[in-house]
Amino acid sequence: MKADVDAARALAQQQLEVVLPRRWRHVQAVAAKAEQAAGAVSPLDRELLVAAAWLHDVGYSPELVDTGFHSLDGARWLRRQDVDERLSALVAHHSCAWLEAEERGLGQALGEEFEREESPVTDALCYADMTTGPDGQSFEVLERLAEIRSRYGSGHLVTRFITRAEPEIVAAVGRTEARLSAGPSVQPM
Ligand SMILES: [Fe+2]
Repeated sequence: MKADVDAARALAQQQLEVVLPRRWRHVQAVAAKAEQAAGAVSPLDRELLVAAAWLHDVGYSPELVDTGFHSLDGARWLRRQDVDERLSALVAHHSCAWLEAEERGLGQALGEEFEREESPVTDALCYADMTTGPDGQSFEVLERLAEIRSRYGSGHLVTRFITRAEPEIVAAVGRTEARLSAGPSVQPM
């Protein structure tokens, strides 16, 4: 399967809508925000960005849980569905997942199994996820990070992860906003 947006939406819907309706609301809003942010990436990568937004949290689906780390579980499942390799890798590493993987003792597995891209696409995916709340509401990035910390509580590994990841997340959001205010990137010749 290519990085097809309709197929990505259908896969995410099938895995999340009924069993995790709140997560599904978040995912729908992240996909909408990725569409709005598409001007921050090359026209060639816009479908890939939006497809990754639809699928970034698919690993929370109870059916897919294996290690319990949603980025890795989701990406492994996507690879088994023959999803585009770059798309699977974007899901594996979305929103600084490598830092959470380290907290979970899965840093090596994640890094060996999926290549980590650093690009306007990874920045824009992080932007879409980290400016969208758990119910799909729009947040400033610092509000969103505070929301995550308060939802998991102090001492939780997700809270430790998000504290370590904050500078990188804030930088990715800033780069995306700067690209958007500079105007849509043009088609490479
Ligand atoms: Fe998310």
